[in-house]
Amino acid sequence: MTLTSPAAPTRSTPRNLAGQKALVTGANSGIGRAVAIALGQAGADVVVNYVAEDEAAAQVVAEIQSHGVAAYGHKADVSREDEVRAMFAGMIAQFGTIDILVANAGLQRDAAFQQMTLEQWNTVIGINLTGQFLCAREALREFLRRGVVAAVSCAAGKILCMSSVHQEIPWAGHANYATSKGGIMMMMRSLAQEVAPHHVRVNGIAPGAIRTPINTDAWKTAEAYAGLMKLVPYRRIGEPEDIARAAVWLASDESDYVVGTTLFVDGGMTLYPGFATGG
Ligand code: BGC
Repeated sequence: MTLTSPAAPTRSTPRNLAGQKALVTGANSGIGRAVAIALGQAGADVVVNYVAEDEAAAQVVAEIQSHGVAAYGHKADVSREDEVRAMFAGMIAQFGTIDILVANAGLQRDAAFQQMTLEQWNTVIGINLTGQFLCAREALREFLRRGVVAAVSCAAGKILCMSSVHQEIPWAGHANYATSKGGIMMMMRSLAQEVAPHHVRVNGIAPGAIRTPINTDAWKTAEAYAGLMKLVPYRRIGEPEDIARAAVWLASDESDYVVGTTLFVDGGMTLYPGFATGG
């Protein structure tokens, strides 16, 4: 038995989101970028939300457009109600409606608890949790106004809340971040329960360690990578495309009966790998 695992898969996505309109927050880098591109590859028109780095956002837009769908970038801070409302108004003016929201924008402001400033706390809660609330609320208003359009999707709309394994795994030194993700989980489930009768599907994705700029320190050196692998039974880091494939599936009618669930995409990180040999 070998303990090395294969590389991440590469395969093209079926175009099962043709005609749908999607908005992805925090889509200029990392997981958001990969999700936005995959939704475009699957046939959706995509709004690329971002808050900094116009050039990176423009590149994502161009890549999405190369798949023959419409895309544009919209700069907005998801923690600001006025900016979020303007972003959705702009999308509805430009694309007519919204079918898929991927509430993904998130960040870390790590600190030992006794040193954590109120600003570090509020920034993380504001963007990661309140940002998802504001975006989900605007998307929901449009879903309820429009209802199901059978030619487009079985559902009146889909919301994907990007969470983390840290909605479940406590994380010392990251209490603000873990709290935001625990909150996302309960907001997602409560909202899913509330709006399922309207045929709106709300689900979460909980990525584990994914190779993105948010966690460079966890994988950039061989030593760091080896340490990280002790936490990942599948013995490879996740790639943004691992999350993107899950997002396309959860946004599509292929997952039509999946409601209020968090899909963990984590290489087994939540299996408590320390217990493989301990306990
Ligand atoms: C965090 C990463 C971390 C991963 C696994 C993610 O939610 O943003 O920094 O590597 O969880 O711990």
